[in-house]
Amino acid sequence: MLEQKIKDKTAVVAVLGLGHVGYPIASLFAKNGFLTIGYDIDSERLRDIQQGAVISEIISLLPVNEIQRQKKLSEIAENLRTSGEEESLREADVFIVDVPTPLKEKDIPDLSFLENTCRMISRFLKKDSLVIIESTIYPGATEEIVKPLLEESNLRAGDDFFLSFSPERIDPGNKKWSLESIPKIVGGINKESTDLASLLFSQIIQKVIPVSSLKVAEAAKMLENIFRSVNIALVNDLSRLFEKMEIDVWETIAAASSKPFSFMAHYPGPGVGGHCIPKDPFYLLYKARKIGLNVAFIEEAASINKNMPLYVIYLAEKTLKIRNKNLNNSSFAVLGVTYKNDVLDIRRTPAEAVITELTQTSKNVMAFDPLTTQTFGAKTGSLEETIRDKDCIILLVNHSYFREKNIEEKINNLAPNCCFIDTKNFIIPSKLKKSVLYKCLGKP
Ligand SMILES: NC(=O)c1ccc[n+]([C@@H]2O[C@H](COP(=O)([O-])OP(=O)(O)OC[C@H]3O[C@@H](n4cnc5c(N)ncnc54)[C@H](O)[C@@H]3O)[C@@H](O)[C@H]2O)c1
Repeated sequence: MLEQKIKDKTAVVAVLGLGHVGYPIASLFAKNGFLTIGYDIDSERLRDIQQGAVISEIISLLPVNEIQRQKKLSEIAENLRTSGEEESLREADVFIVDVPTPLKEKDIPDLSFLENTCRMISRFLKKDSLVIIESTIYPGATEEIVKPLLEESNLRAGDDFFLSFSPERIDPGNKKWSLESIPKIVGGINKESTDLASLLFSQIIQKVIPVSSLKVAEAAKMLENIFRSVNIALVNDLSRLFEKMEIDVWETIAAASSKPFSFMAHYPGPGVGGHCIPKDPFYLLYKARKIGLNVAFIEEAASINKNMPLYVIYLAEKTLKIRNKNLNNSSFAVLGVTYKNDVLDIRRTPAEAVITELTQTSKNVMAFDPLTTQTFGAKTGSLEETIRDKDCIILLVNHSYFREKNIEEKINNLAPNCCFIDTKNFIIPSKLKKSVLYKCLGKP
């Protein structure tokens, strides 16, 4: 019985897709004593994991004490078998799916990775296997897309094997909430599936929240990420309005945050990035359109966030004008390229749109990020080389590296006459020389 195997940790867990989500979850199962098969089709990714090159992605799972860390690392290594061979899945009792669910042209969901994976699982499904989808999908997709593909095995979901959806809520770089402490929502095609998947996750995660259906679990993930998308869009919109009204949006948010209930602070910025917030709203929008409903609010929010890079360019243009310069005859430095501070992930980063726009007008655009050398066609160099003598410096990401390097001092010494566009309210303006023309998004 799978239930007993889960209880005594003899169930073999296969995690399909060892990316930002799958590698940590596979490591967590391995750390907790489950024999875990980590399967991925990307041989480079497998090599990086095997060589320990991406250990930082699972560091939150490891106790800070160095001796304990080594012990946990060896437990993970002992129990986690990574492979690109389909045959490695044959002994699996549980299949957890963490493959990408991106968008294709016209912001339509691309479910091809999920579909391929489900077809492959169907070849290895046994009676009483448990399949859990963690990849983000629209409500209804597990029943409509996943179930029929798995049933190509000639086994019936709910009767012969268990099927569950459990959204992943990992927040890369979050030092307070780790994979183990973030509550895990679980929905199933029937009660037995929900119970079994809940039992499995309760072996590795502190709190499990069973819900009544697959659709509720799928919809909860949509709600969480659309909540962020619309709230970020709201402050982005307000930042433009307040700027014109000579109100500091950052101070306003801090003041509003003193309300002990019914307010949650969100902050403006150059746009949203990563593999969730920019694309998940489009999953729900796709489904809404299919059933003939217009949810304009969600669409408008996504579009406000998408347009923020252009607003950053507008701010740069406006500030340069004060110095009698324009986008064509100015040199630029872009600081920060990843979508988020202190996290190496450049997927859908707003920096791409900002740099692309700048390089179309100016011949002298450099970009620097302490975590990546990908600069979307801009030249790169050291931090010092990047900012030296530039007319305009645009800070897009508030990496702690910039604080450690005393960025204000570097600007004073290397580009004392620049225009500085701060999209994160990061710079301490009083530390800047008077000759630097400082402009912060959302401030008069
Ligand atoms: N990144 C996040 O912070 C986050 C948070 C919550 C949920 N999610 C969701 O989790 C899912 C995975 O996201 P991610 O960020 O880990 O993506 P990722 O791109 O980092 O990793 C996906 C991995 O799946 C592999 N893959 C692709 N096709 C495969 C196949 N057929 N079989 C096996 N492996 C395959 C890829 O090689 C890659 O290594 C997505 O649906 C995403 O929306 C992501």
